[in-house]
Amino acid sequence: MREWFAGECASRGLGLSEDRVGNQWGWWGDPDGSTAGGIVTGSHLDSVPDGGAFDGPLGVVSALLAIDKLRSDGLRPTRPIGVVNFVDEEGARFGVSCVGSRVITGALSAEKGLALRDADGVTMAEAMRTAGRHPDSLGPDPEALARIGSFVELHIEQGRGLIDLGHPVAVGNGLWSHGRWRIEIPGEPNHAGTTRLSDRRDAVIGCAQLVLGARTAAEAHDSLATIGKINIMPGGVNAIAGLATAWLDARASDEAALSATVAQIAEQAVGLGAVVAEESRTPHTDFDDVLVTRLARVLDGAPVMSTGAGHDAGILANAGVPAAMIFVRNPTGVSHSPAEWAEPEDCLAGVAALASVLAELAEAQP
Ligand code: GLV
Ligand code: MN
Ligand code: MN
Repeated sequence: MREWFAGECASRGLGLSEDRVGNQWGWWGDPDGSTAGGIVTGSHLDSVPDGGAFDGPLGVVSALLAIDKLRSDGLRPTRPIGVVNFVDEEGARFGVSCVGSRVITGALSAEKGLALRDADGVTMAEAMRTAGRHPDSLGPDPEALARIGSFVELHIEQGRGLIDLGHPVAVGNGLWSHGRWRIEIPGEPNHAGTTRLSDRRDAVIGCAQLVLGARTAAEAHDSLATIGKINIMPGGVNAIAGLATAWLDARASDEAALSATVAQIAEQAVGLGAVVAEESRTPHTDFDDVLVTRLARVLDGAPVMSTGAGHDAGILANAGVPAAMIFVRNPTGVSHSPAEWAEPEDCLAGVAALASVLAELAEAQP
């Protein structure tokens, strides 16, 4: 993916650079050529287990095609335009999402990031070394950030938000608060064929209660709570589990609802003897008002909407970068699944929308 991205930048004559965490930036124009910073777009190329083709890649591909469109329309930007490929947006391996943007903004310290472990116990530092990269380089990167005057991330819409609105694209004005919690539910490993029911301490029973408890808490607080990943130890068909580790993903349109949801689940977990650890939490994020209004005007009546999905645009916004998003209609309303989809004509409408926005923000001239 990274080589593909580098090749696409090279074939367009975009100057490629990497920041301290390995995010890739392709620049049309001198990235330090504007005191107000450049206009940056792009997204990520990593995915979730068995994910769809659009979440992430649509934003990167559309960014490259929007540059092609500006050029074929004979437009030259006054301000530099950057295309970014953020690393490890989904956190599929190490659990924390948006690692690329969190590290360069300091929202995730290098120390904490490098110590994250995957399911096999491999730390991010070890994985980086194995891949021939340098964990010592990780850390906040104010120089990379200073180059971003505004950030606009185009993304597949990940729910049913655009289906009934009759528009192929929308402007994103904010993200719900969300986070991930690791819950370790203890049990007592024992023999499935000889241990009386009354003598058992089965970690999976507690885990099952928590899965249902998460649903109840979400219903009570008008939020979302999901346990989509569970690790059962020792994991034998004929063994009672001694430990179940469940990862909770919780989201809400406001902080209070998210806190109440997680508190209710945590209280139940503690009652089961479980330990709850917060792995990441991102506050409710309103994108830059002025930028959102400008995008809505350029896109001529496109609907404006927020989302419960997390994005690098949110991390940058929380670090003070003016940011906004463009969503492309998803007729299935399904995401993080192979059923995620966008019709080709809607993808092209997304490219055209992004090109118009870049032309406006980068003050492109004929
Ligand atoms: C990212 O896709 C997230 O919202 O989990
Ligand atoms: Mn995603
Ligand atoms: Mn994404």
